Amino acid sequence: MNFPTRVQIIDVGPRDGLQNEKQPVPAAVKIELVQRLQEAGLTEIEVTSFVSPKWVPQMGDNAEVMAGIARQPGVRYSVLVPNLKGWETAVLSKPDEIVVFGAASEAFSQKNINCSIAESIERFAPVVEAALAAGIRVRGAMSCTVGCPYEGEVAPARVGMLAGLMKDIGVQRVDVADTIGVGTPLKVQRAIEATLAHFDIDHVSGHFHDTYGQALSNAYAALEMGVWNFQSSSAGLGGCPYAKGATGNVATEDLVYLLQGLGIDTGIDLDKLVDAGVYISAALGRKPNSRVATAVLNKRG
Ligand code: HMG
Ligand code: MG
Repeated sequence: MNFPTRVQIIDVGPRDGLQNEKQPVPAAVKIELVQRLQEAGLTEIEVTSFVSPKWVPQMGDNAEVMAGIARQPGVRYSVLVPNLKGWETAVLSKPDEIVVFGAASEAFSQKNINCSIAESIERFAPVVEAALAAGIRVRGAMSCTVGCPYEGEVAPARVGMLAGLMKDIGVQRVDVADTIGVGTPLKVQRAIEATLAHFDIDHVSGHFHDTYGQALSNAYAALEMGVWNFQSSSAGLGGCPYAKGATGNVATEDLVYLLQGLGIDTGIDLDKLVDAGVYISAALGRKPNSRVATAVLNKRG
């Protein structure tokens, strides 16, 4: 075992969490969520995506949200960018990091971004080059690293191949994503192992959806390998519009509680984080989808 002493969490709630919401969420609510997350101590927040508003209407207010957030020094704000068109708009919002997003499964690549894996890399390459030239960091999200809603199980070799392609075009770090939350610890470890052939441990993060309730176990399995970067959503928000039936990311509250119990520093104030989750859940007319948030709220009475 090789547990890290500190873990860096990217809260992806404003983007991954809200992109799948049917009801329009006002930009002001998204901006307030970002504010509450940074007040809770999050130093990395995935704010929005510069994708087609016809495909994902909920993210159509990307520039407005980026313009509205009150940036704090020391906080990194990232945005998803699928192509040069997205980059041209995204760069005007001055993100600290852009995220190109590909898939280890051909079918998911087609459904999600309307092109093959090879074509996606061709689209990403000039985006990555432009971002790096502009001094903006580049992360690569790798979807379907253990399972695909269309192809079923995904072999680790496919993940390794995608990681290698991302590395070749200059992507600086990658997320090993279990998009549909079907992973279990061993499968997740194999996907991470395949990624480690191309990126060192400091540049690999875990992004686990919780559909089958395994996300925390998967995070623990990643921690055992020394992974110290994770993505999660406050209140367990989320899902991908092109991954039917998949539920949200592991709740940031649940992940932080696990890490606190392991004596691993996150810099996050759990109480304030619960409040941020309550805020966004109330705005959506529901309760936080987090066992830890529920427990904390019950204890508060
Ligand atoms: P396309 O239709 O193949 O693109 O979409 P196109 O280049 O043929 O252009 C068609 C139209 O879209 C044109 O407009 C373009 O201008 C416009 P028209 O002439 O018809 O009026 N367009 C754009 N508009 C705004 N921003 C852009 C853009 N690009 C083209 N960037 C595209 C390709 C990728 C744009 C489309 O498929 C798309 O937007 N897909 C949405 C993908 C998405 O957001 N998925 C969810 C995020 S990924 C995820 O959640 C997984 C993750 O969390 C990790 C995990 O859990 O696995 C990251
Ligand atoms: Mg996701």
